Amino acid sequence: MEIHIGNRVAEVELVSKEDNKVVLTIDGKTFEADVVMAENGTCNILMDGRSSNAQLIRRENGKNYKVNTHYSSFNVEIVDSQAKYLRMRKKGEEEQNDCITSPMPGKVVKIPVTVGQEMKAGDTAIVIEAMKMQSNYKVSSDCRIKEILVQEGDNITGDINNIRTDCIIFRTDCIMEEKNNAYATFEERDRIASLGGGVEKIEKQHESGKMTARERIEMLLDKGTFVELDKLMVHRCTNYGMDKNKIPGDGIVSGYGKIDGRQVFVYAYDFTVYGGSLSASNAKKIVKVQQLALKNGAPIIALNDSGGARIQEGIESLSGYADIFYQNTMASGVIPQISAILGPCAGGACYSPALTDFIFMVKEKSHMFVTGPDVVKTVIHEEVSKEELGGAMTHSSKSGVTHFMCNTEEELLMSIRELLSFLPQNNMDETKKQNCTDEVNREDATLDTIVPADPNVPYDMKDIIERVVDDSYFFEVMPNFAKNIIIGFARLAGRSVGIVANQPAYLAGVLDIDASDKASRFIRFCDCFNIPLITFEDVPGFLPGYTQENNGIIRHGAKIVYAFAEATVPKLTVITRKAYGGAYIVMNSKQTGADVNFAYPSAEIAVMGADGAINILFRKADAETKAKELEAYKEKFATPYQAAELGFIDEIIYPRQTRKRLIQALEMTENKMQTNPPKKHGNMPL
Ligand code: HXC
Repeated sequence: MEIHIGNRVAEVELVSKEDNKVVLTIDGKTFEADVVMAENGTCNILMDGRSSNAQLIRRENGKNYKVNTHYSSFNVEIVDSQAKYLRMRKKGEEEQNDCITSPMPGKVVKIPVTVGQEMKAGDTAIVIEAMKMQSNYKVSSDCRIKEILVQEGDNITGDINNIRTDCIIFRTDCIMEEKNNAYATFEERDRIASLGGGVEKIEKQHESGKMTARERIEMLLDKGTFVELDKLMVHRCTNYGMDKNKIPGDGIVSGYGKIDGRQVFVYAYDFTVYGGSLSASNAKKIVKVQQLALKNGAPIIALNDSGGARIQEGIESLSGYADIFYQNTMASGVIPQISAILGPCAGGACYSPALTDFIFMVKEKSHMFVTGPDVVKTVIHEEVSKEELGGAMTHSSKSGVTHFMCNTEEELLMSIRELLSFLPQNNMDETKKQNCTDEVNREDATLDTIVPADPNVPYDMKDIIERVVDDSYFFEVMPNFAKNIIIGFARLAGRSVGIVANQPAYLAGVLDIDASDKASRFIRFCDCFNIPLITFEDVPGFLPGYTQENNGIIRHGAKIVYAFAEATVPKLTVITRKAYGGAYIVMNSKQTGADVNFAYPSAEIAVMGADGAINILFRKADAETKAKELEAYKEKFATPYQAAELGFIDEIIYPRQTRKRLIQALEMTENKMQTNPPKKHGNMPL
């Protein structure tokens, strides 16, 4: 069941239903509503403004609710909705699940028909009262009433332009088949195309817990904004009798629409058509929207659910993939590219998502692998489940392929919307500044006590980040991979920023191969799309040891310094505690081009930790001398003062003032003008 909150759809569970009262949980929060919910029905909540993770604060009169989202309050109105149907059947024909929507919202005042009644085209099936006027609603062709599910007195919603389950008033196959009528022919062809692989395949898709391509797009985009392209395109394959089975749309639903009022392009693999496999024709559809997105400077979102190359087409399908990969590469760094994996994504098909900026997966429902478990078993005699090989958990925590793991498709689609709110439309655009209700000069005294006095005691860097950014809202990216570094988006004074932070609570915040990869790609993304970078630093150094060295910590670690040094967006750093050695340099140091570098009084900016230094300098000294020299070293080097004296940091700040200082620095750097030397492109270590 779904609830629409503004343009977003929240996860809703019906807890109990008693007469007209229902208890629902929305995104895990419970509240009561006065709505009549039909089985499998939907309940719309209309809401002014954007939102997520709605939380009920209090219920006001009637059907109005006060809901808290992102620390802002919105008024919510629950609109009565009932997914009820009059089920009808065309005379002499098999039942189909076509639907006719109510022409307008209103109240059913009369149903002058009974089950089994034969109808002629033009006979009245229902009388609806709307705007104090009663209208007869007539059937458009001969049919027989199969089932009546609405009652007189029921309220129905209506949306003639946009078929939604909550405005269907009856299901029937009584579509007019007037062969000479151009409109009827078009309507019929359009109707068939809308069904993709057909009702049975759609049911199978639903049974496997997945939405259809159209349902996904509908949920992702602002209501009623989707414009579909190439809906009637078909394949041209003649192998294996394929010429006798052409399905309009050919397994891709593509086009454009809006998210939070901003233009986006989208394509979705339709698993109900040949398992969403890629054909030469549907690859052309994808390339068309990719080119449109690039030409018109708007993000593109791919919803993957596919069995890979359409086997019947041979290498024509492979060629289609190549065209898609080429467009992915051309668009990289020009427009944001987002991939959702909502089912299988196997073989070379994985490389389109891999070429995009962000990948989203659904727990237990989506799988990505270059070679599936069966082939793995045959070729290298290794037995591995598809979940272990390429499930969302594997890719979000071990391989680092995916950036977001979501519990449900709905959550995934809403997270894409959320992500886009932090991004500009393209590399020439600025991010959209949001209204900021969080006081820009807000001080937080707790910040003065978060960093422990003992340098060996861990703390959670997210406690600092969340206290500094607008409304404590931090949209973390790759939260399960390389947890020793934190990346994600937040806002400061309403402006999007990218955050890169060491995490002392995990592996002491050390930099290793995975952390280097995670951070550097994120830094480059932010730089591509004009998003200022803020670094929170507490790093004891690079992880030493055989494994790291043998796997190339040198070339991987070099990526971070490359990415930071190359970035021309405003770059700010806050050193909260340790900033040792090479790790100090690579974490957005002043010398590699940072614009403003702050340090807390607790900062220790030194060539290396005190113990290691004294063990080298006073290797042969007795214990007493070593202890004395250790204290002297700490006093001299384990502070921010040497760095402040040399101008390596700009200011030592009170932690409680971090928010204010960062906002001031962001304002100061707002019109930063910096370009790197002209070049074809750099050669970043990999
Ligand atoms: C044509 C395909 C297909 C494909 C699935 N179907 N994959 N048709 N080409 N690649 C069809 C099935 O025949 C079936 O048709 C329908 O889609 C649904 O498939 P099922 O197997 O019934 O569904 P399910 O059990 O959910 O399994 C889904 C699946 C499985 C895991 C994706 O179908 C599968 O393993 N398919 C093959 C995957 C694969 O090896 N692809 C690699 C192709 S080569 P009916 O009519 O029975 O409903 C490749 C190289 C690309 O991709 C390189 C690019 C650079």
